Amino acid sequence: MQIRPFDNDCGAEIDGVELQSMSDEEVEAIADAQAAYGVVFLHGQALTPDDQLAAARRFGPINVNRFFAPVPGHPQVAMVLKEPRHERNIGGGWHTDHSYDQVPALGSMLFALEVPSAGGDTMFASMYKAYEALSPGLRRTLAGLSAEHSSRHVFGRSAYPKRDDDRYHNAEKATQDAVHPVVIRHPRTGRPALYVNPAFTVRIAGWTDEESRPLLEYLYGVAAREEHTCRFRWEAGSVAFWDNRATWHYALDDYPEERRLMHRVTVEGETLAPYLSER
Ligand code: SIN
Repeated sequence: MQIRPFDNDCGAEIDGVELQSMSDEEVEAIADAQAAYGVVFLHGQALTPDDQLAAARRFGPINVNRFFAPVPGHPQVAMVLKEPRHERNIGGGWHTDHSYDQVPALGSMLFALEVPSAGGDTMFASMYKAYEALSPGLRRTLAGLSAEHSSRHVFGRSAYPKRDDDRYHNAEKATQDAVHPVVIRHPRTGRPALYVNPAFTVRIAGWTDEESRPLLEYLYGVAAREEHTCRFRWEAGSVAFWDNRATWHYALDDYPEERRLMHRVTVEGETLAPYLSER
């Protein structure tokens, strides 16, 4: 097994592993690489939905997605699909999956079945790098803060009819609100990571929206700097397995006439603790 981190330590490619037949040592090595680099990429995998579920379960219990239509016959596998008839793709903006949950998901394993001839890449941004780019003074300020996150404005009734297509369901279940530290101590690495995102974070806890917006916009601008990101070009059979506590991701929507089909399985995480060492 070879692990090749990208130059900026956002993302790593892994060769020499088949996800259906990982040894326990390989599972640990993949989990360590995912936590260290935020996302790992594998090529040439051949996964049925049951294979993908079994592989994901090696990293933790499965978190069943409430809002994406499942693969028929496999309620734990979410379909991430864009056809030419769809106006927009799924995940087309910087976000962190499930930050609206009290116990946010660890991460997701995305498997490519059909990819466009060009386009459809996914970007990732390192939230370790985002934090490290902040001044000591701002880090000290953030160490005392929490932020509110919600699913309501993205997956709930207020997001319809925009979301009224066959890829989404359960709008009535978009009732999740959660408060998490703005800077978390990563559960596996112990490193500080910025934990706010443009899709689901609604405000700094205890601040008004007007007060929150400039700080959040500043943090988002730092996080999305090119030097904190990597970009993955998919092939059928590729897998990206990302850590939501260490990255954001963004599915590029630049293949209007083509179809892209991925299967996503999400792994449960744990309660997030604040990183307080900078106080
Ligand atoms: C997602 O946000 O989970 C989808 C990512 C992708 O399709 O590349």
